Amino acid sequence: MRILGTGSFLPKKIVTNAMLSEFLDTSDEWIVTRTGIHSRHVISDESLEDMGTQAALRALQDAGLQASDIDYFVCSNVVSNWVTPSMSCIIAGRIGLQCPCIDINCACPGFIFALDIVENRYKAGNRGKALIVCVESPTRMCDWTDRSTCVLFGDGAGAVVLGEGDNILGVRLNSQPDPTKLWERRPMESTPYFTGDDSQKSLQMRGREVFKFAVGASTTEVEALLSDLSLTKDDVSYYMIHQANLRIIDAIKRFLGEDDSKFPTNIADHGNSSSASCPILLDECNKRGLFKEGDLLVFSAFGAGLLSGAAALRW
Ligand code: UT7
Repeated sequence: MRILGTGSFLPKKIVTNAMLSEFLDTSDEWIVTRTGIHSRHVISDESLEDMGTQAALRALQDAGLQASDIDYFVCSNVVSNWVTPSMSCIIAGRIGLQCPCIDINCACPGFIFALDIVENRYKAGNRGKALIVCVESPTRMCDWTDRSTCVLFGDGAGAVVLGEGDNILGVRLNSQPDPTKLWERRPMESTPYFTGDDSQKSLQMRGREVFKFAVGASTTEVEALLSDLSLTKDDVSYYMIHQANLRIIDAIKRFLGEDDSKFPTNIADHGNSSSASCPILLDECNKRGLFKEGDLLVFSAFGAGLLSGAAALRW
């Protein structure tokens, strides 16, 4: 497939590190040095479906298409107020899509898993256009008295519209399943019979271990993907890395031996927006005219699961 349009949406409330240090034992200095984050957009009166709808409409507008042109819709979302119907059905209803809709929960690499799904459907003969929306509110997963998690995240939505083309050159997906490194639990409804564990816990992360996984998975997968495609690092125009921590991006850059100028970032004023991070970065770079036709973009993302993925596409 080929990307025909991009869109994104950020909630209006901006929370700076100084605002966090008013109620947490933290500082701008700690957060900036350890993560590269200065501020983040945090959901207030917006809903996830509002954000996903706006990002989708902007991507459709950028592609010059209508909702009726879309034949398949994948929504990446970790958690929302809606258990059912799926977030993809809710957004589809808002924008007037009438096509198959599915949700995936692949955490931060959700955009790359979604690309894999639409590309493989296309290769299997479903030649229509696809919409991907990644919409996330990790700030609603954290305990806001826990300084080790809540300072890291921001909310938002990113979307792409894809159509006919052979610009997705390759995707690599991976897992190292381990529910102890990055997780959150919520209780379900009680019944007269259920006697199991229904405990609740806000987002928990073993930061250092996830950091190591992220750097290892990303560098290994990017190198393997380029080798699968008989490409070299010299062919790569930009690395679009999941915006989890500037130090993770810097470490990946060092391991790959690549130049700063190939790594656009927006973590400074967005924080980590889970699967929305890559498509928001893509949209912002697209809208500021960073890419030229033919540029090779290599995406890499990693997160809960633990899951990771890399994708190479020609702009
Ligand atoms: O997108 C999903 C994937 N997630 C990631 O990729 C995140 C990966 N991990 C990370 O980015 C980093 O591990 C963190 C940013 C989460 C933490 O950085 P770190 O350098 O690994 O710090 P640490 O967890 O080892 O904590 C160092 C110290 C601790 O204090 P002591 O025990 O040394 O006294 C923490 O209690 O920093 C303390 N600390 C804080 N201090 C001020 C933790 N959070 C804060 C804070 N402000 N917000």
